[in-house]
Amino acid sequence: MSTTSSPVKSAYHVEEFRAQFPILKELVHGKPLVYFDNAATSQKPRRVIKAESTYYATINANVHRGVHTLSTKATEAQEAARETIRKHINAKHAHEIIFTSGTTASINLAATSLGQLLLEKGDEVVISGMEHHSNIVPWQLACERHGATLKVIPITESGEWDLGETPGPSTPLREARSEVFTEKTRILAISHVSNTLGTINPVKELIAQAKKQGIITVVDGAQAIPHLKVDVQDLGCDFYAFSGHKAYGPTGIGVLYGREELLEKMPPWQGGGEMIDQVNFEKSTWAKLPFKFEAGTPNIAGIIGLGEAISWMNDYDLDAMAAHELTLLARATKELLTIDGLRIIGTAKEKVGVISFVIEGVHHYDLGTLLDQQGIAVRTGHHCTQPLMDRFGVSGTTRASFACFNTMAEVDALVAATKKAVKMLR
Ligand SMILES: Cc1ncc(COP(=O)(O)O)c(C=O)c1O
Repeated sequence: MSTTSSPVKSAYHVEEFRAQFPILKELVHGKPLVYFDNAATSQKPRRVIKAESTYYATINANVHRGVHTLSTKATEAQEAARETIRKHINAKHAHEIIFTSGTTASINLAATSLGQLLLEKGDEVVISGMEHHSNIVPWQLACERHGATLKVIPITESGEWDLGETPGPSTPLREARSEVFTEKTRILAISHVSNTLGTINPVKELIAQAKKQGIITVVDGAQAIPHLKVDVQDLGCDFYAFSGHKAYGPTGIGVLYGREELLEKMPPWQGGGEMIDQVNFEKSTWAKLPFKFEAGTPNIAGIIGLGEAISWMNDYDLDAMAAHELTLLARATKELLTIDGLRIIGTAKEKVGVISFVIEGVHHYDLGTLLDQQGIAVRTGHHCTQPLMDRFGVSGTTRASFACFNTMAEVDALVAATKKAVKMLR
């Protein structure tokens, strides 16, 4: 359902991106909107908005159900989106792409179904201390159900995994990580990129270590998909979860990639229409993949919108977008650090364009409110990472998260408005 042409692959022209996001013309408190809350949800380019409305205006029908023309067209559009996503993350098969309502649902699916398949009393599930609540609580619930234990990789002062030894050029990651897993570990569930710290985690290396010990690996990719080229076969993970709305796509749609062999063995998560082969009152049998895990009418418009968002990103250069965001991060980091008493939470070497900070004597809610008065949208609070806040001894932070359409002038506006707010609040 591609509605626009003319992809740009050459030099980075931020204005070219800005022109495609209608919301950027909005005023907030009479000021031009500066949107720095992309890690919570990104803004949507016109193409994505149009793809969703075109579906409703021209081919709205239920999928995989009718023989009529509209149903066929809707089914084709949905399955084309599945193929676009498969290709984007380099999954082997389109039926390894399961549509869910978002990362949260994807991880709940994985935790519930994998838990039932794998976990027994005394087993261990390993997560890290920087996980979003969505990658903590589903595993806690699974552990409770099956008598397993949740183990947590600690976090260093710079906001990286603390695996017992600082990995350096002469310290192969494999060796540094030997104590993370025991013979009881069954599942490793880790985020690719931290939503609060911006840290890009060396997931590939840890997955390689886990695989050697037969551990099943689940990656929370919610914050990676908007910034990094993800290749699930290269990463070697068994599962990869993400949301559409953080990657220029619609809300209410997400993906769980799962390796075919495991998905085949796993029990269904939800029951209902579309996920069955035969139903009778004694016993039902399940549809083939991916439908076994897609009970009920899917978010068809969302799926088509997500396919369009991924196509849109692929028409540009994701590396160039991420590099642009890093120039904004570098400026924000340098300038914000000139503020007396400001501390950045998350100073890893490898980061995406996310900056979290606290300022002595200034509450993040007050700062967020004053920034909003200047038209600047940032996220304040614990960012659904309460254990991580405890680790750093703070109740919350102010977080600015950048996207392809943000500008240096906007970063300067953030810095100036923060300085002004600090003067008022101290
Ligand atoms: C790292 C991470 N994981 C999971 C989630 C949950 O995503 P959703 O609310 O789209 O289900 C988020 C959302 O902020 C996130 O940043």
